[in-house]
Amino acid sequence: MRAAVLLTCLALAAADHYHSEAVWTARGGVEPDPLEHTAAYWHAEAQAALAARLESVDQRAARSVIMFLGDGLSVPTLAAARALQGQLQGRPGEEARLAFETFPVTGLAKTYCVDAQIPDSACTATAYLGGVKVNQGTLGVTAAVRRGDCDASLDNSTHIDSIAAWAIQDGRDAGIVTTTRVTHASPAGAYAKIANRLWESDANVRAAGLDPERCRDIAHQLVHSFPGNRLKVILGGGRREFLPNSTVDEEGARGRRLDGRDLVGEWRADKRARNASHSYVWDRAGLLAAPADDDYLLGLFESSHMQYHAEADAAREPSLAELTEAAIARLSRNPRGYFLFVEGGRIDHAHHDNLPRLALLETLQLSEAVARAARLAAPDTLLLLTADHAHVMTYNGYSRRGNPVLGLSGDAGRDGKPYLTLSYTNGPGYRPHDANGRPDISLENEFGAPRMRAHVDVPLASETHGGEDVAVFARGPGQHVFTGLYEQSQLPHLMGYAACLGPGRHACRPAHPRAAPAPAPAPVPAPAAAARR
Ligand SMILES: *[C@@H]1O[C@H](CO)[C@@H](O)[C@H](O)[C@H]1NC(C)=O
Ligand SMILES: *[C@@H]1O[C@H](CO)[C@@H](O)[C@H](O)[C@H]1NC(C)=O
Ligand SMILES: *[C@@H]1O[C@H](CO)[C@@H](O)[C@H](O)[C@H]1NC(C)=O
Ligand SMILES: [Zn+2]
Repeated sequence: MRAAVLLTCLALAAADHYHSEAVWTARGGVEPDPLEHTAAYWHAEAQAALAARLESVDQRAARSVIMFLGDGLSVPTLAAARALQGQLQGRPGEEARLAFETFPVTGLAKTYCVDAQIPDSACTATAYLGGVKVNQGTLGVTAAVRRGDCDASLDNSTHIDSIAAWAIQDGRDAGIVTTTRVTHASPAGAYAKIANRLWESDANVRAAGLDPERCRDIAHQLVHSFPGNRLKVILGGGRREFLPNSTVDEEGARGRRLDGRDLVGEWRADKRARNASHSYVWDRAGLLAAPADDDYLLGLFESSHMQYHAEADAAREPSLAELTEAAIARLSRNPRGYFLFVEGGRIDHAHHDNLPRLALLETLQLSEAVARAARLAAPDTLLLLTADHAHVMTYNGYSRRGNPVLGLSGDAGRDGKPYLTLSYTNGPGYRPHDANGRPDISLENEFGAPRMRAHVDVPLASETHGGEDVAVFARGPGQHVFTGLYEQSQLPHLMGYAACLGPGRHACRPAHPRAAPAPAPAPVPAPAAAARR
């Protein structure tokens, strides 16, 4: 009788097939602060957040805008990166906050492009910098231009101006900072108008069977076309796209151009012709020594992308925070203000290679850059952080609080073998099954190594982007307009509103002043797409 009752109790305890109690078993982990065991701790945490939210309407106009972009910075990446940040400081981790996670306003952006359910970094850059959704692989041209259609892209009615151009046209300054090549898709969204993001130098245009004199490559546009030639600060990697293949750069790498042009030299000559003071730098020492009162600064720190910060020689290659500081120091000299774009561009690359540790560490670098900017930028600066698209990394299992986020989940598979807390649905980390089924990842020689690939479900040479929404974080004048769930292409319009830039409504004046107030329109059910105008 006793045994029967006990059995019934056990059966009831296990009754939730989906959330068995048994899986919350301990496996290492850091214990949370005992204060968390009190109700008062959580009440105080919530009331402080509520107070901040009640003050989130900021009707002032922004003088400057700094937009941070985490390439591939999906919401699971944010959650895992903050846990890692806390764990690196010896805490459980989940309670930590990345620098921008303290911003008072958040939103969600929909990232699809005109011809892509799951987008690339080119069409999304055109959306979040130009305010227009376009075709995947294209930059600064409307969806009337198909990827690779050089002829169509020459029709200037397809051209889209970015918010960097709006800022310069308004007498403010603009700059771009990235850890990728400065000609890569995200930063190129600020200045390029091109039918294929891969056309970074004339060699790529030629390889596509096209005439580089007609269809100018991205590096050429950056140096010679508006608004690239008016960007006050250009910092990142990508020397190879600027130098001829006959030239070896400062670190011994050969250029890629086939037209014999030295675009770094041409950039200098252009600034000299305008009597503008300028510096070109190629390493950290050069960056730190460059005069802060130069009119123009070009820094190219690698032949291709900058290195992952965790793998770079920090004495020779500047951090994203240092690049951001150098940019703010120069752009802040314009009393009218500025637009600065700062990209943590290699979160995306680490994800593509199924390297979660590097993806999270690059995210923490981006967070440090945001913290630096939040400290240095004037109070009338709008700070924004978002991502271009998601990735397919998942943060899964039922681990205890404080379980190492880069390690094994607290439970095991039905096969008794462990699995990682962070894994991917696809990519190069696929492990073929053998006679014993799924291999035990914890037995691999590389287990726990900095470049250990996470396991995946579907083998692919490169992990794919994800199609879900990305987060938007805002702090500063106009911050309140970034709340909600909206098309990614609204972002420049919202920034333009907050900083009084570009077409449409502005925080500091009506966009289309009318002589007399218009009569109230009859309530017509408008299509959703037209609702914002
Ligand atoms: C577009 O091109 C036409 C013809 O080349 C030119 O007349 C016009 O000024 C251009 N418009 C803009 C906005 O550049
Ligand atoms: C540069 O490219 C040209 C054209 O493809 C080629 O003939 C030449 O050998 C290349 N030079 C070097 C140094 O690779
Ligand atoms: C540049 O400066 C020199 C000397 O001050 C002056 O003669 C020249 O006209 C200036 N050129 C331009 C394009 O402003
Ligand atoms: Zn990518």
